[in-house]
Amino acid sequence: MMKNITFVLFSTFAAALGGLLFGFDSSVISGALQSIKPFFGLDEVGLGFSVSSAVIGCAIGAGTAGYASDLIGRKKMLLITAILFAISSIGTAIPNSFAVFVIFRVLCGISIGAVSVLSPTYIAEIAPANIRGRLVSLNQLMIVIGILVAYFSNYLIKNQIGGENDWRVMLGIGALPALLFFLALLSAPESPRWLMKKGRNSEAEKILVKIGNAENAQKEIADISHGIDEAKVPVSELFKGKMAKVFTLGLVLACLQQLVGINAVIYYAPTIFEKTGGDEFLQTVMVGLVNLTFTFVAIWLIDKVGRKLLMIYGSAGMGVSLLLLIFAFITNQLEGYLVLISILGYIASFAASLAPITWVVVTEIFPNKIRGTAMSVAIAAHWSCTFLVTQTFPYILEKIGGQYAFGIFSALSFFTLFFVWKYIPETKGKSLEQIQAELGVG
Ligand code: GLC
Repeated sequence: MMKNITFVLFSTFAAALGGLLFGFDSSVISGALQSIKPFFGLDEVGLGFSVSSAVIGCAIGAGTAGYASDLIGRKKMLLITAILFAISSIGTAIPNSFAVFVIFRVLCGISIGAVSVLSPTYIAEIAPANIRGRLVSLNQLMIVIGILVAYFSNYLIKNQIGGENDWRVMLGIGALPALLFFLALLSAPESPRWLMKKGRNSEAEKILVKIGNAENAQKEIADISHGIDEAKVPVSELFKGKMAKVFTLGLVLACLQQLVGINAVIYYAPTIFEKTGGDEFLQTVMVGLVNLTFTFVAIWLIDKVGRKLLMIYGSAGMGVSLLLLIFAFITNQLEGYLVLISILGYIASFAASLAPITWVVVTEIFPNKIRGTAMSVAIAAHWSCTFLVTQTFPYILEKIGGQYAFGIFSALSFFTLFFVWKYIPETKGKSLEQIQAELGVG
């Protein structure tokens, strides 16, 4: 029984605005590239760096945010991140030197990396157990909405404002959702689990009573107290015994989610569509819409079809769509609909599978004892893979040939299919404790 579902939903929404900024800030650059390139006089490597410099920040942000939030609190860290988002949006909009631009891009990345750990953690810690999965998935939905908003806003700015300085408006406008994020967080509570870790039990109890009811709060307090002693583990613990196997499964899955090349498409969509001769900004908006639609498909199917089957079908769909794209590049059929259709097929397959499910499975298979540390390490590695992809992609696309980049992504999609089929356990409908026991790490 929920005393105040509105309170839980509002707090989830406030944290998930971090997801919205994650999506907005990581993809808004895609529309700015065309104008940034001549403005700063960039070659392909410089262009790649204007995208991937943020991704370096993401790895730093993800690797440190969990630890910092253990020290000062989830809510404070989220508030600080909202401010960093606002500063970096304005900071990337005004410079005339590429070095200053890059510094603010790194700051932007630190904020994205931080929320990629903080928002799901906060939501999981505040959510009542029976609706936790759905509430955490809301974060991925907000990421995708953020991407779509960025594409759409870029499209409008390009068409309504245009000119060589349009990129400043595209990037600077990100300060608005950052402000909204900050204001919404002010009314959200601190995480009761964090408060208890700090021995602030009476404050935690008040929040838990507000979320559930008095008896539930007592039960939750007992459960949380039980888990607290085991909450902190050193990184070396991840590589010991059976834990090493489970950690490796999560780590490899988190890395594969990036190595299949999703952000080559998300960050460089207009650059790819430029080759097709159509309206690249409109086609990019379509990518965003398909991404959103198929995220709903994943949320609808995840507890029915199961995680494993959905990931197997999704990886197959991605691999095959990319084969079609490679065919378009090799036969030089870049004009017409072949490129658009194969990219939409690829995005749909990813959105309905690996995009949300990776995060669900990773939090499910990492046992309570190592979850925090394991998430930080795995997400930092995940962002390092994003760096590799986004830094090398424009160079391969322009200098070597798109078919080679997409060939690697296609091969890795089929490898993901094999990896999931062979190693990832089905976790649908099982309690976390049951999953841990089955993996031998309970
Ligand atoms: C997932 C990925 C992220 C990607 C997004 C695309 O959230 O983790 O890197 O940009 O999906 O929808």
